Amino acid sequence: MTAPLVDPFARAITYLRVSVTDRCDFRCVYCMSEHMSFLPRAELLTLEELDRLCSTFIRLGVQKLRITGGEPLVRRDILTFFRAMGRHLGTGALRELTLTTNGSQLARFAGELAAAGVRRVNVSLDTLDEGKFHRITRWGRLGQVLEGIRAAVAAGLAVKINAVALRGVNEDELFDLVAWCGAEGHDLTFIEVMPMGDLGAEDRLDQFWSLKDLRARLETRLTLVDTPERTGGPARYVRLAGSGQRIGFITPLTHNFCEACNRVRVTCTGEFFMCLGQEDMADLRAPLRASPGDGPLEAAIRAAIARKPRGHDFDYSRQTVAGRVSRHMSHTGG
Ligand code: GTP
Ligand code: 5AD
Ligand code: SF4
Repeated sequence: MTAPLVDPFARAITYLRVSVTDRCDFRCVYCMSEHMSFLPRAELLTLEELDRLCSTFIRLGVQKLRITGGEPLVRRDILTFFRAMGRHLGTGALRELTLTTNGSQLARFAGELAAAGVRRVNVSLDTLDEGKFHRITRWGRLGQVLEGIRAAVAAGLAVKINAVALRGVNEDELFDLVAWCGAEGHDLTFIEVMPMGDLGAEDRLDQFWSLKDLRARLETRLTLVDTPERTGGPARYVRLAGSGQRIGFITPLTHNFCEACNRVRVTCTGEFFMCLGQEDMADLRAPLRASPGDGPLEAAIRAAIARKPRGHDFDYSRQTVAGRVSRHMSHTGG
């Protein structure tokens, strides 16, 4: 038996998030600057290398694999990779194969994703207002995403909506988002905006809307019942009394969830980040390419896990942005 991955704080690492591209067909204001330069394609791990990498992690105990980006569905031939990973669902080694997407390509791919073994997708959607959607995503069209979500549902996929809570931007839509997700049967998770990447004119403190405040606002009209239900990520959930609709909160700023962290991340060039909110990383591309066997890769993974940090240092509490990370969210994929 290979020993599973356990970090210095006795946390078992069972969840791998893999960013398969840094590119995206949107330019969300909190994620990218308007003029991003992207990696040359030659830098990327090939689909075969991604397969070896993920399969090694799965052999080391990873049970949940989430494909992210940039936008994962803009990577050429990405369905081949999903189908390849689907084989680990067949053996039972992998419990969940899933993705986080902006939804723009779901109308094309939902059916094939379901056929590859995906059961659930997380779709980023911060507003239901077309103009506002365009302002947030700069390049996106709301109608295309809504069509993608409908295609996902039609393909039998469960859809969870991720909404970044943005002060003065989607505050006024709080109840509309909840009502829409309730009517459509989607879980909804709110996320606090994290200080990742230099965004130029955008100011994190202006953007930040604490989920403590958001939750209090919900409670003025709705009864929230805490539940211990988990989906394997950092969200904590409530259900609405009456309908039972599920709402999640991801609170990196107001309530740190790092003590229960089960996750690590690999970027599309094989950079291995042990924490979303820290700069430390290990290169997995070199050991992957150094040998056709997976020994050096496995050794590099274990050495890196041995220095997984306790948690992130994001903090706005003194009205300044502390713990900022220089890479953009699109680099590590959330
Ligand atoms: P579920 O499988 O539905 O539980 O998904 P998830 O929450 O693990 O994945 P998703 O891609 O929907 O993540 C939502 C967001 O939560 C990410 O984009 C990040 O913004 C944030 N997040 C996830 N994991 C971490 C983490 O370890 N640290 C921090 N600071 N934020 C995280
Ligand atoms: N802070 C919080 N969430 C972010 N996302 C992108 N950038 C940020 C940020 N700075 C979210 C997206 C998507 C997920 C991958 O991460 O909206 O739901
Ligand atoms: Fe693209 Fe997602 Fe970043 Fe928006 S948040 S620019 S959709 S990667």
